[in-house]
Amino acid sequence: MAEKRDEERVCVTGAGGYVASWVVKLLLSKGFIVHGTVRDPCDEKNSHMKKLEKASENLKLFKADLLELESLCAAIDGCTGVFHVASPVPSAKVANPEVELLEPAVMGTRNVLKACEKAKVKKVVVVSSVAAVNRNPNWPMDRPKDEECWSDPEFCRTNQDFYSLAKTLAESEALEHAKKSDLNIVTICPSMVIGPMLQSTLNASSLLLLKYLKGFFSY
Ligand SMILES: NC(=O)c1ccc[n+]([C@@H]2O[C@H](COP(=O)([O-])OP(=O)(O)OC[C@H]3O[C@@H](n4cnc5c(N)ncnc54)[C@H](OP(=O)(O)O)[C@@H]3O)[C@@H](O)[C@H]2O)c1
Repeated sequence: MAEKRDEERVCVTGAGGYVASWVVKLLLSKGFIVHGTVRDPCDEKNSHMKKLEKASENLKLFKADLLELESLCAAIDGCTGVFHVASPVPSAKVANPEVELLEPAVMGTRNVLKACEKAKVKKVVVVSSVAAVNRNPNWPMDRPKDEECWSDPEFCRTNQDFYSLAKTLAESEALEHAKKSDLNIVTICPSMVIGPMLQSTLNASSLLLLKYLKGFFSY
């Protein structure tokens, strides 16, 4: 992480989630002032963040939804960096993928980037996923998957893999936005993230690990 200036502010979207909570913890430990977006700051499931070291001085929670641009603008205003982590990560099939997955992932990314432009943010890290890369049946088996390799949206739709579709379309949205704006945007594509949880509720990838350990995993 580069040297930071005094009072530097960084926004983390979906701050109470599994991955984002660790990002918030790291940023606080480095002395950043963190603007964390959560859908409900009063929800008990977000209470772990208030217990993080330096949270009482340097963590400010903002009520924001990915579909509400103004709420994101309020959270991102004054920040030099943004980690866009929020995105629905379901642990089971969803009834209405268009509304529950695709809209928050794609329109949410667009809204976050619009808010970043408005606030003249210097760098945006968009958390994508290996799901945006590896659902590609036409990629040669012997060729390493790299930036050229994208999940095939039609393949995702045919297989009703709407999470992968949402992550693919959201990452494309971010990179297309980068071409048209002055924003410095990077995307990262983690594979399955496992390890200790800071939050009290079970997230999808931790649940998957639990299922493996209990021996009742089926795909
Ligand atoms: N965990 C993994 O193995 C893994 C691997 C690759 C990539 N990723 C990516 O990492 C990111 C975080 O995943 P995670 O595992 O930490 O999942 P998580 O714990 O379920 O976190 C997802 C976060 O997104 C927020 N969110 C969802 N819809 C939203 C909306 N409409 N408006 C505002 N916030 C919304 C959730 O807020 P609420 O609590 O209010 O629902 C939650 O804070 C995601 O982008 C995911 O695709 C995760």
